[in-house]
Amino acid sequence: MSDGVPAAAVRDVRMQPPIPALHVHRVSVRFGDALVLDGVDFDLDAGHFLAIVGPNGAGKSTLVKVVLDLVKPTKGHAAVFGADAGAAPQRIGYVPQLKTFDRTFPATAVELVASGVRRSWPVRVRKEEREHAVAALRDVGAEHLADRRLARLSGGELQRAYLARALVRRPDLVLLDEPATGVDFLAEHDLYDLLERYQARTGATVAMVTHDLAAARYHASRVLVLNRKLHGFGLPEDVLCEPCLKEAFGHVGHQHAVAF
Ligand SMILES: Nc1ncnc2c1ncn2[C@@H]1O[C@H](COP(=O)(O)OP(=O)(O)OP(=O)(O)O)[C@@H](O)[C@H]1O
Ligand SMILES: [Mg+2]
Repeated sequence: MSDGVPAAAVRDVRMQPPIPALHVHRVSVRFGDALVLDGVDFDLDAGHFLAIVGPNGAGKSTLVKVVLDLVKPTKGHAAVFGADAGAAPQRIGYVPQLKTFDRTFPATAVELVASGVRRSWPVRVRKEEREHAVAALRDVGAEHLADRRLARLSGGELQRAYLARALVRRPDLVLLDEPATGVDFLAEHDLYDLLERYQARTGATVAMVTHDLAAARYHASRVLVLNRKLHGFGLPEDVLCEPCLKEAFGHVGHQHAVAF
């Protein structure tokens, strides 16, 4: 080779498959007697928009928590961009499921967002941190909420504050757990639009738990159907089909038909 790199080394690099954004290898999780995840196994390449669907109690939030290293698998392991789950928290933005939000916490929206920068609760938000946090709130259309106490935000407003917190450090992976469920203010359309623009700008990978199969069909580039086991993983048109959903949900109701 003219640049001094041995030909064999070049070949080796070319043969390496790209490092997946998410590598979930035979993950099982047991809580007491309950096997909540059973041998879940998939790789998601970087840049995709993944929708994670499945009935209540299917283990969707648990799977997200395994990726975040908040739940340790009983068997198997998960990696994010080739590093063990939990090794690079700064590369991940997370919007937790609304029902787990603590709205009694004595803080304002801007303090919540600033806590996403420091990864700890700021005692006092410095001027430049405030500017950064307010800009993140502006990006999600919530600048006017900056000094509002969390206890005084509506569900949708709180959701927006959490979204600003998740995006403030420009993460490479955004994990969202049912970000639009039960929320009027944050129209689902706005949320997808915002995430798609963020992805176009940064090339980030997005993984979202949702019960809205029609939105998954329309917006996602990959869909994962879960009910303790993996019942499908692939293109929306391949995975959101009647047999797959019947297997995972036990039935196919009118709310599922819109996905076909
Ligand atoms: N920390 C825990 N300890 C014991 N059981 C748990 C724990 N977390 C979740 N579970 C149980 O594991 C199962 C899967 O829960 P999970 O929250 O992952 O489901 P989900 O698919 O996110 O459901 P939903 O659609 O209702 O949010 C449920 O039966 C739940 O009760
Ligand atoms: Mg859940």
